[in-house]
Amino acid sequence: MDLLINIAYLFAAIGFILGLKLMGNPAKAKLGNYFAATGMAIAIVATAVLILNDSPKVTNVIFLISALTIGTIIGRVMAYKVEMTGMPQLVSLFNALGGAAAVIISINEAVININTPLSLIINIALALGAILGGVSFTGSIVAYFKLANKFNIGNQNAAKIVARFLLLSIIGVSVIFFSSNILGISFLSYLMLISIVSLLYGIVFTVPIGGADMPVLVSFLNAITGVATAFSGIAFNSPIMLIGGILVGATGVYLTMQMCTAMNRSLGVVLAGKITSGEIPQGANSNIEVQRISAVETASLLAFSKKIAIIPGYGMAVAQAQQACYELQKKLMEKGAQVTYIIHPVAGRMPGHMNVLLAEANIDYKYIKDMVDVNDVMEQFDAAIIIGANDVVNPAAESDENSVIYGMPIIKAYQAKQVIMMKRGMATGYSGAVNPLFGRRNCKILFGDAKDSLVQINDELKNI
Ligand code: TAP
Repeated sequence: MDLLINIAYLFAAIGFILGLKLMGNPAKAKLGNYFAATGMAIAIVATAVLILNDSPKVTNVIFLISALTIGTIIGRVMAYKVEMTGMPQLVSLFNALGGAAAVIISINEAVININTPLSLIINIALALGAILGGVSFTGSIVAYFKLANKFNIGNQNAAKIVARFLLLSIIGVSVIFFSSNILGISFLSYLMLISIVSLLYGIVFTVPIGGADMPVLVSFLNAITGVATAFSGIAFNSPIMLIGGILVGATGVYLTMQMCTAMNRSLGVVLAGKITSGEIPQGANSNIEVQRISAVETASLLAFSKKIAIIPGYGMAVAQAQQACYELQKKLMEKGAQVTYIIHPVAGRMPGHMNVLLAEANIDYKYIKDMVDVNDVMEQFDAAIIIGANDVVNPAAESDENSVIYGMPIIKAYQAKQVIMMKRGMATGYSGAVNPLFGRRNCKILFGDAKDSLVQINDELKNI
């Protein structure tokens, strides 16, 4: 039986790794998802067989089937119901569940073995699982509320001080507990204590982190959950839990570092909460004098442009304008224009957000470029159409040291001969930063919902 289970785990691990590999290529990401999901299904079935083989009680069968059914139904309903724009919140919630599971299984193991002391290694693994899981659970819940704009920042300095105190307490109590028996408490009592402190730490650690840094935070919490799972894997001697945890932890760390690079932030600065969001009121752009353009004028400008850049952002997701965007691309190419999509790594509200949208509209990946590949030749574009992007094209990131996004690499759309920004009003982007691009001489704003504007432009292009 053990051999069969291990073979199943091997296939599951291959599914995870192949899935991850394929997800690195947008065109094959869907296939990658199927591989990873199949790997997970194999791992779940093998583990269920293992558990029932060890203790084949009817109550265990009922428990397992109920848990799997409830989890499957909730996961499926949530995944189908969630809007693309709500994806980061969903990721945070799922991540929170992973953290909670790590805490529960650590405490459960300590309860089961209350009279049979476990080895030091297992106890340390259980403790680390509970600490990291606890931080990730409450941290992800706070991140969920922040992403959904349902959370008031509150007193950040107080939160930072409390966070430091709690972190020192977790480390101090753990070192004392494992190095001597001065505390005179059982492992279960210690585990309960640090679990509670870790849950509190997750809250105060997340509270001060600024809005624009949320993507980094979510991916960091994801990595923490992965590491917590890996420790649980050690404690339970479960190779698949260990492999799964390591993969989530490693990819989470890698993604976190990539996002920090994309935003020109160091992880230390992000975690220290050195950026605040919402300091600049919405409408802060309203003092900027802008030039308007109509859909009809935009259509004729584009009809006579040879090299066109399309820069999508969060507003494209809100407007669900990807299909209309594809129609525009086709029309412009029929007229002989060369069209390039330029994607910023943190455009939208989740990693790969824009790639997913463009894939939904079946836009060919050969037309999509990363910003690093085109930023040096931006001045060659006759027109740059910015569809609901704001922060990722904000030149204040390069020129205004006081801007909250100063230092973040941007798409240098302002260097194109003509810039057309599609947006509904003068609102700022996610970071709240004022955008001087609105007032540049080569920039015109096409006000309105991005999808409506694109449909009007497409209609007009038929007549040109
Ligand atoms: P943002 O800077 O957030 O700007 C979005 C723009 O879309 C706004 O100017 C908004 O202006 C416009 N808009 C909204 N709905 C629209 C609609 N229906 N039609 C037309 N325009 C619409 O977007 P971005 O440039 O993509 O930058 C992303 C930001 O989010 C960055 O600051 C990034 O750090 C942050 N963030 C990213 C992620 C990830 S991982 N991608 C996760 C969380 C946060 P109006 O309201 O005036 O229309």
